[in-house]
Amino acid sequence: FSSFLTDNFSRQHNYLRISVTERCNLRCLYCMPEEGVQLSPPSRLLTTPEIVYLAELFVSQGVDKIRLTGGEPTVRKDIVDLMHQIGKLRSSGLKELCITTNGISLHRKLDSMVDSGLTGVNLSLDTLDPYQFTIMTRRNGHEAVMKSINRILEMNKVGAGIRLKINCVVMRGLNEGEILPFVDLGREQDIEVRFIEYMPFDGNKWSEKKMIGFREMLALIREKYPDVQKVQGHKNDTSKTYAVPGFVGRIGFITSMTDNFCGTCNRLRITGDGNLKVCLFGNAEVSLRDILRESNNGNPIDVDAMEQIRQMAMGRPGTIAGSADDVFVSETEAKLLDVIG
Ligand code: GTP
Ligand code: 5AD
Ligand code: SF4
Repeated sequence: FSSFLTDNFSRQHNYLRISVTERCNLRCLYCMPEEGVQLSPPSRLLTTPEIVYLAELFVSQGVDKIRLTGGEPTVRKDIVDLMHQIGKLRSSGLKELCITTNGISLHRKLDSMVDSGLTGVNLSLDTLDPYQFTIMTRRNGHEAVMKSINRILEMNKVGAGIRLKINCVVMRGLNEGEILPFVDLGREQDIEVRFIEYMPFDGNKWSEKKMIGFREMLALIREKYPDVQKVQGHKNDTSKTYAVPGFVGRIGFITSMTDNFCGTCNRLRITGDGNLKVCLFGNAEVSLRDILRESNNGNPIDVDAMEQIRQMAMGRPGTIAGSADDVFVSETEAKLLDVIG
């Protein structure tokens, strides 16, 4: 495996998230204000050839999973073409190509995306009730989102194999009563519903009172399903996975507020304006866009720039002595035991 993206803890940075737009067609209460977010001037955003170039570069360095995010990625006009071009990297080692979307217009684009190699959809949906949907997203569109979910399930019935996760941010006083209906979605369908703790962001009017921690959510689920049990998730999951015996689907919790998961996070991120970030919460960034644009010798990423990127990957939280969390340490220990027998 390429050492370029492997850190001191032999954690492989093989997962790249690329934000392809800052815009969104919803206005979820917990994410942005009614007027939207301040957008970067178009000239500062990555162009499609730049995104494809960077995707190729990272895949050549060992990245085998790419997730397109936003804002809302499907509002980018050429998203289908972009997905198609990135999908071609399957022949260079890309194994998973995913999207995080609110599902509003996914149903119109899904078939061609799957043809291009889309393997996973993380769909944000906080409520199963159309009225509550208009409250939480400040827009209409519940029906369109359900159409997208149903299209995925339909395609999976004929073997498409699209991995579907639903992201549900739980807010006290709004959708807390829907935890059980969401769990029930997995009774007969292969869906992983992940309940997310409400996190503070700039201007989202976060208050602790509206946040529900994962232990409280789990206790509520246990009242109805006492047998719900923890199961092994995937190696680099940022969520804790649980299963209700007899259910086809799984449930998960993203515990950003009550439990740190930095130790298993292997994500690299490229922002819409081309900055590389290793952590959602970290401020350290390097502008890949400037590196790309400042060079015109046909080989824009030179050795120095590569070294800068490598240093960032090495310095991410959880890799500095003393800050690696237990989960990660025990994984490392397991590996060591493997080696020394
Ligand atoms: P997969 O593991 O590939 O399914 O994706 P994901 O869960 O990383 O991505 P998704 O876009 O579905 O994001 C789900 C939630 O995880 C969101 O609430 C993100 O804000 C949160 N998240 C993703 N990466 C990080 C991270 O590095 N730190 C924290 N605290 N939250 C993160
Ligand atoms: N707290 C928790 N999750 C959030 N998301 C957006 N804003 C917040 C917040 N303040 C979630 C969305 C989406 C995922 C990428 O991030 O629901 O599913
Ligand atoms: Fe934010 Fe996603 Fe909601 Fe858009 S759909 S407002 S990006 S959480």
